Amino acid sequence: MEKEEMIELAVRQTANSYAPYSNFCVGAVLVGKTGKVYTGNNMENASYGGTICAERSAFCKAISEGEREFEAIAIVGGKQTADGLEEAEECFPCGLCLQVMQEFCEADFKIFLHKKDEITEYTLKDLLPFGFEKTILPIAF
Ligand code: THU
Repeated sequence: MEKEEMIELAVRQTANSYAPYSNFCVGAVLVGKTGKVYTGNNMENASYGGTICAERSAFCKAISEGEREFEAIAIVGGKQTADGLEEAEECFPCGLCLQVMQEFCEADFKIFLHKKDEITEYTLKDLLPFGFEKTILPIAF
């Protein structure tokens, strides 16, 4: 799937966000190394800490279907209005989502964001250069 198509699908995916508390709707499109595509959106909770971000929702879907290696993710966020999504510029993934990416993805895992009509492209290494690595744990992987 091309990055333009991933971004378009991420925008459409924000329509499924459950964000009654922030009204900030996030859509994610995750592509596995098998080529399969997993969508996700944020799901808020009255107990705010129970909120799940769009990126982690896509990862949960993928992991639960057996996918373990990933190519790229597209992320879009903004305010839902009667006229559609009022997009924020470059909706970067939060630290918790970056840590989940680090669990399953290589340093060159691509992260596509949307800035006006432009798609900006980062790698996981760009956004989390010194993340906590499972290899530091006293367990053999
Ligand atoms: N959110 C995401 O879905 N992904 C992120 O990486 C950052 C934040 C959601 C969580 C919450 O529903 C809303 O954005 C406002 O924080």
